[in-house]
Amino acid sequence: MQKYYLTTPIYYVNDKPHIGHAYTTILADTIARYRALLGEDPMLLTGLDEHGLKVQQAAEKNGKSPKNHCDDMAPAFVNLWEKLNIKYSDFIRTTEERHTTVVQKILDEVHKNGDIYIDEYEGWYSVSEERFITEKELDSGEFGQVRKIKEKNYFFKMSKYQTQLIKKIKSDELLIQPVSRKNEVLGFLRNELSDLCISRPKSRLEWGIELPFDKDYVTYVWFDALINYVSAIGAFKNTKYFKKLWPADVHLIGKDILTTHSVYWPTMLLSLKIPLPKRIFAHGWWLTDNEKMSKSLGNVVSPLLLVDDFGVDAVRYYLMSEMVLGIDATFSSESFEKKYNSDLANDFGNLVSRVSTLINNNFDSKIPTPSTMESDLAKNYKKIILKDKLDNLEIDKVINNTMTFIRSINVFVEKNEPWKLVKVDKNKAGNILFHCAEALRLSSILLSPVMPSKSEDILQILGTKEKSLVWGKLKPGSSITLSKPIFPRIN
Ligand code: MSP
Repeated sequence: MQKYYLTTPIYYVNDKPHIGHAYTTILADTIARYRALLGEDPMLLTGLDEHGLKVQQAAEKNGKSPKNHCDDMAPAFVNLWEKLNIKYSDFIRTTEERHTTVVQKILDEVHKNGDIYIDEYEGWYSVSEERFITEKELDSGEFGQVRKIKEKNYFFKMSKYQTQLIKKIKSDELLIQPVSRKNEVLGFLRNELSDLCISRPKSRLEWGIELPFDKDYVTYVWFDALINYVSAIGAFKNTKYFKKLWPADVHLIGKDILTTHSVYWPTMLLSLKIPLPKRIFAHGWWLTDNEKMSKSLGNVVSPLLLVDDFGVDAVRYYLMSEMVLGIDATFSSESFEKKYNSDLANDFGNLVSRVSTLINNNFDSKIPTPSTMESDLAKNYKKIILKDKLDNLEIDKVINNTMTFIRSINVFVEKNEPWKLVKVDKNKAGNILFHCAEALRLSSILLSPVMPSKSEDILQILGTKEKSLVWGKLKPGSSITLSKPIFPRIN
């Protein structure tokens, strides 16, 4: 089976997970489930970023040791993923030994090959970004609390790899998507790249992975965190497994962490002579009132509340269909309710009830026998482009195409009026209803990566376990079950 290795960012444990974290993780899970539908073997990695100043400060605030703070926070993420029906293959925490040893091994390697040096540096340090910022960035005023700091630190020779990196990005050997983000990175790379400060003196920050070659320092949190993508799959340890999965097929990220992923990470890999990931995809932000939803702004919606109110599949459907991948989207409960009622309650849910009731009343609850496999619906179904859209990560388009197909089933029912037809030509009516039921089976399967449990419910109503994406596989004669509305309207 073809492997498909995809990753989410690893989330900071300074606070509880919010809708931004939930979005990326649901997106990754949906993509992984679509790859499985295509017959591939997806490996989805997610996890937690547990070192650094933010986490240390959060722990201090809670009066806990950093490790205890992390241990106490981790279940909030794990439980949310369970509640959101996320099927990850592995969950990595950067405090785990399997990670810290690889970080130290990589530091040693890069140090040995001459790409790490010590230097005294004086510059502006952004507390929120946890890094030195340039004069230009300082002038932008976007970096909140800044401090002038003068200290000895270790630097990674990032600049040495600038030309090589530009080439790989320009040629799409390292594909950065959407193209606007590729251009943003290339724009950034038009300026001379500085070297990356990869250490923090313990006197200032204790909570990190100790440098293997200087015990007075810990590793800069981003140099540590990015390595999770290879430490989790056995870099330097389980060569066979690592070789099977690496390079990653895609790193999914939010647009705010583009530079770290498209510049820091690939240059680190170039220094290590490890192949670069195939693709980095940066999605947009969820906004309310044109502002990013974030904990510090206090305008976040808890995914848990949404799930409790509307059910997990409806929330997944909304998040996956409403955001055009790569572009910001605005969250509001009005738009949520509108989308739910029109797409799920009306178009999809009502249709399932209608078709199953007609079969129940006129065909003794058994899927009728078709007289032909040809129909407008069969034609429409064959027009749905799945693989190309999925290769482009256009999940919103796959969903929209499926919804258009579902609407065409509604049109087909209206046009053929099987409730009238059954009185004059029962075979013909049966043929129409078979085609409707088959189209519903395939629609459910096409939406199953987005709504895993509702799709199962619909297949159960249709009395089938058949998951084939080939038209015409529904078995005539199998018993359907009537059920309560699958997507009850929200009033
Ligand atoms: N720990 C780093 C990532 C290290 S990866 C090696 C980090 N963590 S984070 O918890 O702050 O954010 C993780 C992700 O959540 C980012 O991709 C970010 O874009 C995403 N989101 C946070 N708020 C968001 C929205 N309002 N909307 C969509 N996603 C946003 O950064």
